[in-house]
Amino acid sequence: MSRMIWPTIAKKRNTPILNPLRCVFDVLFKRQDYVTELEEAFAKFYRARHALATESGRQAMELAVRSFKLSKGDEIIFPSLTFSELPAIVKGMGQVPVFVNCGEDFNIDVGELKRKITPRTRVIVATHMFGKGCEMEQVVRIARQKKIRVIEDCAHVQGVYRKNRLLGSYGDAAFFSFQNKKPINALGGGMLITNDAGVYDSARRTVSKQADLGLAVISSFVRNYAELALSNGYAYPAQILWWKIRANAKAVPGAHFALDKTKKFSHLQARIALDQLESIEKANGRRLDLARKYAKGLEGLDVALPDMREGENGFYAFVALSNEVSKMRKRLSSEGIETGGGESAVNNCGAIYDPKGDYRKTNSVMRRMIELPMCQQLTDGDIRRICSQIRKALK
Ligand SMILES: Cc1ncc(COP(=O)(O)O)c(C=O)c1O
Repeated sequence: MSRMIWPTIAKKRNTPILNPLRCVFDVLFKRQDYVTELEEAFAKFYRARHALATESGRQAMELAVRSFKLSKGDEIIFPSLTFSELPAIVKGMGQVPVFVNCGEDFNIDVGELKRKITPRTRVIVATHMFGKGCEMEQVVRIARQKKIRVIEDCAHVQGVYRKNRLLGSYGDAAFFSFQNKKPINALGGGMLITNDAGVYDSARRTVSKQADLGLAVISSFVRNYAELALSNGYAYPAQILWWKIRANAKAVPGAHFALDKTKKFSHLQARIALDQLESIEKANGRRLDLARKYAKGLEGLDVALPDMREGENGFYAFVALSNEVSKMRKRLSSEGIETGGGESAVNNCGAIYDPKGDYRKTNSVMRRMIELPMCQQLTDGDIRRICSQIRKALK
């Protein structure tokens, strides 16, 4: 069973293949500037002054960091549990990634964050892991006191709130990912939002020099579809192999897709993303509904559930904690049910980049976490089946 998300298109409930074909048709024959439309829609949704579509979430983060004009050796704080290519990007630019352990909610531990700040700290990248916002009021307060910039990593949260405020609206800038597992799936791409004209102008200058994807958009489309087709429980090993083939050979463990930062986000991707942005709250609502069904189905088991409060978790992924994850994994994978598609992209980066540091806390969380299938296309019956397999595994 797959947790991957076909690009679903608001209002029109066509088959997954037909929806993107309709987008291809629109792009070829209507020839609108869908990229600008998406940027405007994002800026409006987030009440941000500026939005800029990028080749990926990674590129959006890189552009935001570059716009701060940091010096070599300046420090950038990341949660230790994060997407492992982000620290590599800042290292490549000459800055030093510094890591803070995560708590049991997978987000940055704010107490430890205070202790990791030094006179060289310039930026905090606050990641809202798996759909739940981190303690942004505190992060922003700490940062403001020390004149540190804050970038929110919203790759896992689109249209998600914390205490009635949209995640992505707290920091100096925020970035999103439209990679094919994300809440908005445009078969790759990203978005940078900010109220800071300096950040936007600098990022826009770089992107406007980039080439259009041109016909490569078709091959990217086909490649991403091949990947989605492989994202079936039984074909999962083949998918991992495919990722490895595509992964950048120089990347750190847990490497994701290779980046082509020379290309612009395309109108086709923007067209696909636009409809999903329109229906994002509905999709998030459906995932909350499915999460509650999991909670009911797992009642009484030795499994710690994620935050279930309405409006506080977008459930990009349903990640639970248990001391019995290996039993659960074994049983679920024998039934063709994938566990850990999203988790595999994030890693204990402190342990990778700073082997002398103490990242046991993050390690302990990682050892106990299990990602159960989650996407709005799952049915209530799917959840019942998964929960009943987990019950069998833990009996
Ligand atoms: C937490 C997190 N941040 C950033 C990214 C990077 O997004 P992209 O693949 O669009 O570069 C990812 C991708 O999976 C992610 O999981």
